[in-house]
Amino acid sequence: MKFEEKKSAAQNSFIRNSQSMLKNIFGTTDVTPFWIADMDFTIAEPIQKELQRLVERNQYAYESDTCGVFEAITNWYQRRHNLTLNVEHFVQVPGVLAGIALLIRELTEKGDGVLIQTPAYHQFSKVISSAGREVVKSPLQLVNGNYEVDYDDLAQKLSAEHVKVMILCNPHNPVGRVLRKSEVEKIQAIAEKYDVTIISDEIHADIIHSGNRFNSLMASGANKHVAMIGSPAKTFGMQSISNGYIYTENQEIFDTMRNLTRSLYLDHGNALTTFATIAAFNHGDSWLDELLQYLQESISWITLFLSEQLPSVTMTPVEGTYQIWLDFSGLGFSNNGLITLFADAGFALSPGSWFDDDAGQFARMNIAAPKVDIENAFKRLKETILSSTGQYSACSGASSSGGCC
Ligand SMILES: Cc1ncc(COP(=O)(O)O)c(C=O)c1O
Repeated sequence: MKFEEKKSAAQNSFIRNSQSMLKNIFGTTDVTPFWIADMDFTIAEPIQKELQRLVERNQYAYESDTCGVFEAITNWYQRRHNLTLNVEHFVQVPGVLAGIALLIRELTEKGDGVLIQTPAYHQFSKVISSAGREVVKSPLQLVNGNYEVDYDDLAQKLSAEHVKVMILCNPHNPVGRVLRKSEVEKIQAIAEKYDVTIISDEIHADIIHSGNRFNSLMASGANKHVAMIGSPAKTFGMQSISNGYIYTENQEIFDTMRNLTRSLYLDHGNALTTFATIAAFNHGDSWLDELLQYLQESISWITLFLSEQLPSVTMTPVEGTYQIWLDFSGLGFSNNGLITLFADAGFALSPGSWFDDDAGQFARMNIAAPKVDIENAFKRLKETILSSTGQYSACSGASSSGGCC
């Protein structure tokens, strides 16, 4: 099975394996890294072949094909999401965060508010505050184990005069929600009412699990005030060899962003990113289908394991993304004690506190990894919890693992 043959390919993920970062965050380097969201798997064969073709030429002259990239993405969206996009409405950007950073600077003034739905991908706050804008948070509500939009809170926050932009993350990182069409439309209606532009980060659009359907903001008709932003990075595991793209049917936003990226010379990729992207979107379907099947099997295994063997740890429904959002509040650990527990169990997760101050009892796990690694991690977690239970459940002060209280 192609997704298993590269066991521990995580070693190739330079950042995920950074010894200094692991030591700094988890207090040890002796952990399997399930934190940063890149894949252990080898990329799809058509992408490999394209990259080999380019490298074997041993020539790196000026070369790009931005139109080819936009055409490949447009065809992909039609094929995979039944969504008709116009190839003329794309703007290339270096990456999704870079694109969001540029959009925020163009669509808002210093001091303006930019809304995010928390818990939220931790880079959003950074990208907003580093531009001198205010981070405005609208918390998602956990209702019977599912995250739901609090529309009253959203409306109240968006109605504030200084809030000009909302970043919508769909599918949502870290909680894995994939918005229903009605939810997307409701959010859009509220944003329009208060004249707020939505930047819809759809980087995880292709990682949708069975029973769910991706609903792009671009599908919901009245999309004059929105910009969608995406990239092949997550879909095809090409984080270090891809660019991002902005798509908008708002002529003013389009002109602004195209002129900006052109004037900054940011509007094209290099030969490797360009042709890898074209190969991915034109020929990556079957690899992605197999990946989704593989992820689904892991999700099913984890669901069963938690319900049968570790019911004190729960997982919110994984509708999309290859990250799962685990709730450890049933264990009674302190937030720091949880991080120590993960380290003791030998696996590195992204602590929930990265995504929201109130989410310290949660953690995000990247499951784009060989099943055997995931299964071993959960088995070790269970053993570690069991062996610590006496100390922790009594909650009688700091344990050797830095437990609760
Ligand atoms: C929602 C979301 N947006 C953006 C990014 C980063 O995208 P890029 O590397 O293209 O800036 C990530 C990466 O994890 C993400 O999850």
